[in-house]
Amino acid sequence: MARVNGNGPASSGLNRAGEAEELLDAVKGLIIPFIKAADEAVPDRAHGVPSCVKSEGIPRNVLVESLKPEALVKQMQLSLPENEGTGKEGLLDVVSKILRYSVNTWDQGFLDKLYASNTPVGLVADLLLSVLNTNLHVYQVSPALSVIEKLTAQRLANLFGFTGPRAGGISCQGGSASNLTSLVVARNSLYPETRTEGNGSHTFILFTSAHGHYSVEKSALACGIGASNVWPVPVDSEGRMIPKELRSLILRAKADGKTPLYVNATAGTTVMGSFDPFEEISSICKEFNLWMHIDASWGGPVVFSAKQRGKLAGAHLADSLTINPHKMMNVPVTCSFLLTGDMGIFHKANTLPAGYLFHAAERAEPGDTWDLADLTLQCGRRGDSLKLALAWIYYGAAGFERQLDNAFDLAAHLASLIQQNENFVLVSSNPPPSLQVCFYYAPGGKLADSPEDNTRTTRTMVEKLIPRGFMVDYAPGEKGSFFRVVVNCQTLRGTVEGLAKALEDVGREEA
Ligand SMILES: Cc1ncc(COP(=O)(O)O)c(C=O)c1O
Repeated sequence: MARVNGNGPASSGLNRAGEAEELLDAVKGLIIPFIKAADEAVPDRAHGVPSCVKSEGIPRNVLVESLKPEALVKQMQLSLPENEGTGKEGLLDVVSKILRYSVNTWDQGFLDKLYASNTPVGLVADLLLSVLNTNLHVYQVSPALSVIEKLTAQRLANLFGFTGPRAGGISCQGGSASNLTSLVVARNSLYPETRTEGNGSHTFILFTSAHGHYSVEKSALACGIGASNVWPVPVDSEGRMIPKELRSLILRAKADGKTPLYVNATAGTTVMGSFDPFEEISSICKEFNLWMHIDASWGGPVVFSAKQRGKLAGAHLADSLTINPHKMMNVPVTCSFLLTGDMGIFHKANTLPAGYLFHAAERAEPGDTWDLADLTLQCGRRGDSLKLALAWIYYGAAGFERQLDNAFDLAAHLASLIQQNENFVLVSSNPPPSLQVCFYYAPGGKLADSPEDNTRTTRTMVEKLIPRGFMVDYAPGEKGSFFRVVVNCQTLRGTVEGLAKALEDVGREEA
């Protein structure tokens, strides 16, 4: 019998294997029903009606039991013991509460921004990472996962057309971290003195589309560049950066004595899902010697689809590119890569001689560094690349392609259902460029005159969808906030049809 009272090692020896087995078995008895409840709610989602599971005799929504923070604090009654721990019983009690009061992202109705449910193989990957508890700073302590990270990043880089001998990438803690790292690499490479001297007399200017993600501003804050030195480039009616406008802004910055440094182009913008014109942006970056980064955090996975990858034309011309498999590919959060055609540049930009960590220089090892932290802004690093690698091995690139094609078809199907309904106005184009479908509720095709009224309607309807088992979000627009529904690779056709019905119903209640 394993010791599962949480009292720490006994003096006579260890039986962590037995303890792990017992706790895992017990927790498995809780998590499998959690996933199953979401599977069993599928028919209800297709009808757009709430589905309930019985918990302590009381029916409750599978997707989420919505409570305000104060009520949830009371309900959870979380207490961290000052003295003795509560052992297995206390642990299982808390795990049950966590499952009960979390959003069940396995539920088909979870169509919120910009990630989705995990998959069974993702679950295994996360478990394996925890078992290994590998720290990917140096090769000595992370041999297998360092090989996985290098090879996975290299294969991804190759898919994007980075094909040179030093093409590859690193994993970072998320899209924002990948984008920040790209900016540091850009500045340190184009202005190497900044590595030791800081930004000096330069007023660096960064350019990003008016629809770009706020992580570029965050990166500017972190690098001492300042958010107001991130200049938004106007977009066209499809939400794509206008290259001509970029060029004139660069000229204006130069005329003002500033130092244009970096252009962030986006593959799949956060709200509309648009793809910037990379070839034209690249020519401008080359003309003025600016770093070209592509934030493909959201839209990058289209690289796996022959039908969709044309949207990435010219991506191989970028100096760096972010992709987040945890967004469009149902890989568990977080999984993000920063890719490039030349890993030597990453090393030169980020390396620091921390002799207490890195010993490769002493050993005078030839070739690429295998101590991956030396290419990044981190020291300790988690093996996030394993999550993509195992999904890739399990589904294959062909499996990813089928999943993505299906998700794009469903986004277009939802857009058509909305377009055909006289009580809604589609904001996205149809087919939408990515997996977001954006629209307003507009009875008889007419929006309210004031943006505030439209925002109020959208917000109320979004709240009313939750008891029906659908969680979607909204985003600000010129005429007030509009719905933003995000389809994913596991979404079923019935789900988008059920959502369309539920929207119609809650709209009728609103009218
Ligand atoms: C285009 C884009 N870039 C970057 C990010 C940030 O990614 P993360 O949430 O992993 O930091 C997002 C998040 O939605 C995004 O949409």
